[in-house]
Amino acid sequence: MNRILLAIFAVVALSFNAPCRADLLSPLNQVEMAKADAMYQRYCSLCHGAQREGYKADHAPSLRSKSMLSTAFPQMMFDSIAFGRINSAMDGYIKDAGGPLTESDIILLIRWLAQKENISPIDLDQAPIPGKAAKGKELYGKNCATCHGDKGQGGTGTALADQLFLSSATDSYLKYAIVNGRDGTPMKSFAGILKDEEIHDVVAYLRSQASGWSPQPPELAPWPNPNEYVLNPKGNAPQFNLREGRYVPAREVEKALKDNNKMIILDTRPGSAWQRIHIPGAVPMPYYRDKSRIAENLPNDGTWIIAYCACPHAASDSVINHLRSLGYKNTGVIDEGIIKWIEMGLPVVAGKAKVNQVID
Ligand code: HEC
Ligand code: HEC
Repeated sequence: MNRILLAIFAVVALSFNAPCRADLLSPLNQVEMAKADAMYQRYCSLCHGAQREGYKADHAPSLRSKSMLSTAFPQMMFDSIAFGRINSAMDGYIKDAGGPLTESDIILLIRWLAQKENISPIDLDQAPIPGKAAKGKELYGKNCATCHGDKGQGGTGTALADQLFLSSATDSYLKYAIVNGRDGTPMKSFAGILKDEEIHDVVAYLRSQASGWSPQPPELAPWPNPNEYVLNPKGNAPQFNLREGRYVPAREVEKALKDNNKMIILDTRPGSAWQRIHIPGAVPMPYYRDKSRIAENLPNDGTWIIAYCACPHAASDSVINHLRSLGYKNTGVIDEGIIKWIEMGLPVVAGKAKVNQVID
C-alpha cells in the first residue's frame, strides 16, 4: 500500500532530449570539470563517496563501475539522477521535481562521471526479452533476494522492484547487469551460474513487478514560511530518550506530534523528496544547503529540532552536526528514517500545490 501511495506521488520520468552521443562524450574543459566536481562533492559524495566508490552511506552503489556506466549512459543515468528511485535514499535532483539541479547541470554530471572512468557506451537492444515470470520468481528467491530483498525492495543491493527504476531500465539493461555483474561491487556475474533462459525468466519476473503503475505529472507544494517552522509554539517541550545522545525513536516523535508538543522537524532530503511525501509540519532543509543558510530562521533558544532522512542517518546527521557546532541544544535524529516511518504506518502528507520554487 505504501509503495502504491509513494508511486502515485512520484514524478513522471520524462526523457530528456539527449544531444548526440559524440557531443556527450566530447572532453569537458577545465571550467566544466571544476563545476561538475564541485556539484558532485556538494550533492552526491555524502552517499556515493568522495571518489565515487559507493557505499559511503545507505548502500549507495558505485558510480565507477564500468558495467553500470557503459550501459546506463546517458539516459538511465539521467533518469536516476533527475527523478531518483522510489522508497530509497536516492531522490530526484531536477528542479522540475523540486530538486536543486537544472537539466544541463545533470547532463554535465553524467558526462563528468563517464569521463572520469573513460567509458565507451554499449548499445543495448531495446526489444523486450520474453521469459517465464513464475519461474523467474523462484530463481530470484534463491539467487537474488538476500541482497535485493524478498520483494525487490532493496537491501545491500539496489531496489529492483522500484517503479521509477523499471520505467527506464530496459530488459537488456537488466540482463546485462545480471550476466556481467558490476565490477568492483558485490554484484557478481551470474553468467556461469544461471543459464541464458533462466536469466530471461528472472528478467521477466523483474519486469512483472513494474505493472500497474500510472505516473502522475508533478505538482509542487509551496515551501513552508519561516513563521510556520515551529510546530505548536505554545505547546510543552517533548520528552525524548536519545540513543547515543542523538537518535530519537520514531514512536516518540509520533507521540510528540499527537501531544501537540513544541518542536521543529527538518526534512534533510532533497526538496523533491519532501515534495513527494513528508512528515506533517516538516521543514525542507536539504543536507546540501549552503552551511551559512542551514540555521537561517531556526531559533537557537532550546526549542527541540529533530531531523530525518531516508537514509536513515547520513543526511540528517550532517545537518544536526552543523546545528550542534553552532551551539543548538536539544537536537536529534529520527532513528528509523522516513522509509521505516512510512512502513510503520505513521502519519505523512504528500505535496501537491502548484508553486514551483527551488530550495538551494
Ligand atoms: C551479494 C549481493 C547480491 C546478489 C546475490 C545479487 N545482487 Fe544484484 N546487485 C547487488 C549490488 C550491491 C548492486 C549495485 C552494484 C553497484 O554498486 O553498481 C546490484 C545491482 C544489480 C542490478 C543493477 C541495478 C541498477 O540499479 O542499475 C541488477 C539488474 C541486479 N543487481 C540484478 C540481480 C539479480 C537478478 C540477481 C540474482 C540473479 C542479483 N542481482 C543478485 C548485489 C547483489
Ligand atoms: C542520501 C544518499 C544519496 C545521495 C546524496 C545521492 N545518491 Fe545516488 N543513489 C543512492 C542510493 C541508495 C541508490 C540506489 C537506489 C536503489 O536502491 O535503487 C542510488 C543510485 C544512484 C544511481 C543509479 C546507479 C545504478 O547502479 O543504477 C545513480 C546514477 C546515482 N545514484 C547518482 C547520484 C548522483 C549524481 C548524486 C548527486 C547529484 C546522487 N546519486 C546522490 C543514494 C544517494
